[in-house]
Amino acid sequence: MPAPKDVEKKLEALREKIRQHEHLYYVLDTPEISDLEFDKLMQTLKDLETEQPSLITPDSPTQRVGGKPREGFVKFRHSTPMLSLDNTYNEEELRGWERRVHELTGRQDVDYVCELKLDGMSLALVYEDGKLARGITRGDGSVGEDVTLNVRTVRSIPLSIPLDRLKKAGLPPNFEVRGELLMPTASFKKINEERERQGLSTFANPRNFTAGTVRQLDANITAERRMDYFPYILLVNGRTYFDRHSKTLDALTSAGFKVNSNHKLVRSMDEVWAFIQHWEERRDSLPYEIDGIVVKVDRTALQDELGFTGKAPRWAIAYKYTARVGITRLEDIRVQVGRTGKLTPVAMLAPVSIGGTTVRNATLHNMDEIERLGVKIGDWVQVERGGDVIPKVAKVIDDKDHPRGTREFEMPEKCPVCGTKVVRTEGEVDYRCVNANCPAKLLGTILHFASRGVMNIDGMGESLVNQLIERGLVKNVADIYSLTKKDLLSLQRFADKSAQNILDEIENSKTLPFERVIYGLGIRMVGERTAQFLAEHFGSMDALENASVEELQNVNEVGPRIAESIVEFFSIPANRKLVERLRESGLTLKGKKKERGTKLAGKTFVLTGTLAKYTRDEAKKMIEDAGGKVAGSVSKKTDYVVAGADAGSKLDKAKELGVAVIDEKEMEGLL
Ligand code: IVH
Repeated sequence: MPAPKDVEKKLEALREKIRQHEHLYYVLDTPEISDLEFDKLMQTLKDLETEQPSLITPDSPTQRVGGKPREGFVKFRHSTPMLSLDNTYNEEELRGWERRVHELTGRQDVDYVCELKLDGMSLALVYEDGKLARGITRGDGSVGEDVTLNVRTVRSIPLSIPLDRLKKAGLPPNFEVRGELLMPTASFKKINEERERQGLSTFANPRNFTAGTVRQLDANITAERRMDYFPYILLVNGRTYFDRHSKTLDALTSAGFKVNSNHKLVRSMDEVWAFIQHWEERRDSLPYEIDGIVVKVDRTALQDELGFTGKAPRWAIAYKYTARVGITRLEDIRVQVGRTGKLTPVAMLAPVSIGGTTVRNATLHNMDEIERLGVKIGDWVQVERGGDVIPKVAKVIDDKDHPRGTREFEMPEKCPVCGTKVVRTEGEVDYRCVNANCPAKLLGTILHFASRGVMNIDGMGESLVNQLIERGLVKNVADIYSLTKKDLLSLQRFADKSAQNILDEIENSKTLPFERVIYGLGIRMVGERTAQFLAEHFGSMDALENASVEELQNVNEVGPRIAESIVEFFSIPANRKLVERLRESGLTLKGKKKERGTKLAGKTFVLTGTLAKYTRDEAKKMIEDAGGKVAGSVSKKTDYVVAGADAGSKLDKAKELGVAVIDEKEMEGLL
């Protein structure tokens, strides 16, 4: 075995290599090695660190993901207040700002930097000795929240910058950057679609999503929701460091930060105006949303002369693009059925041109939104169109020129596509069609069923499934198992071999374990993990189909809402018939009941704080293996709260409710 010093050196060299590739990939967007090679490097590092856990450093690339869930966020005071910007809305106001800059500085030749006004949330990053020490939200401007664990998962944020690199960039080892954290529109859409598929609520725009994500208690979730960070301010000892803002941006770039490249140093307001117009035309082509342009005086000396008003610097101004809105009449509200069965009310509008696009309909999201807007059919409404997002009804116009509509909208009692009774689970916003065979849900349901990680039917993608549905060959997932070669050969682009491949894939899927079938049925709120627990608990589809809401709640992680969703699914005759046909086709509908211990049967635990010997997952598994259940929050039903170091609000709650609090040793005793 090599001496620890060697290992330490080897580890650090590997880390540095990975950091360089991360920078190439996530910041510069010019990877030099394949994803596979990158994964291999990462795996080597992980393996080495597993062998030598004492040598793991917090800035190791392996430490981005997997922070322990936290109790809450600690408040943190900013080194200097995080200010906001004054807004202008037209050229005249902008020229007015320029005049004041000229008057207050006594100069006419002022250079400006134009930047995109990124529509995310501002975030401060504190670096100590070149290492990321803290990430703090803006909060109220003076005091923000420490979100370091989540911030560490953002790949374009360097966790550590070698001191010689900082030196070359002209930066000291201790500094603070401020910038915008945002979610690219594509990630936003993807995650929203996935949430929709799982029957979860969706987010209205990427900004809300970013704010929600960075304040997620579980850093693993933040990691999955690919965010990006663009710095635009540098502070050293609370002060601007370089003599020009343009130099700050260059220095941050050389230090390895992802400075937004769409900025420009200009010498006149005419050039500023050209920049503004340039990006107004192209804002839809950007991979993230912007809501305007920020203009900053370049020279720090002039910035200092200009100073601040109450909450904003006089040396910078935002030019806000007009929200792309139009006013039109809402002629009707129709209901669309999504692939999870969610019913979305859609406004049918008198056609109106907004920002060069004719808009004929706009989403009203859900019944709560209709009530919030107070909208009636026949109203005049203001419609907004965001970057890439579907237009939405923003408000009802209520003045003497725009008479109010009179007809109230009501959610239909039956699914407009298949006629099955519509369900709204108590406490939920959305109405849904729960018929698994509803044609509106068919495409999504089948794609989910066939996808990798579910029944794994390779080749059964959107184009094939669409054709199968159009020809009436597949009306539900069970029909997949009745497909013949003749059926497939009748479709476009199918030859003997490709048809046989699909049939082989279908045949293979029959051997997949029982939990996959449960997951594949697309029961609302039943994801991969829940399906696994259900399979282990019940051991057969028969038992699961006939389980009551009470029985279901004995399953790990299954609460009343999931239990009701399962019972509801099997209460529909068509769904039962579907399962019957899957059984006849020879799918695996039985599994091994997992023999869990019985020592802790019926007992519910809540874990809080950091345990000394076990990670949360390990402790959880031990409890579950002994037949116990681990819940996320403390209630009267909790039997034990296991409290580790730095336990927070859950411990308080336990005391308040008189729930038994035990420590790690006592937990081991129970096991
Ligand atoms: S400079 C003291 N630059 O806009 C200067 N802000 O409306 C403070 N924002 O809170 C900010 N892009 O979250 C600056 N290129 C940019 C920006 C930007 C977006 C946000 C920032 C700020 C808000 C003010």
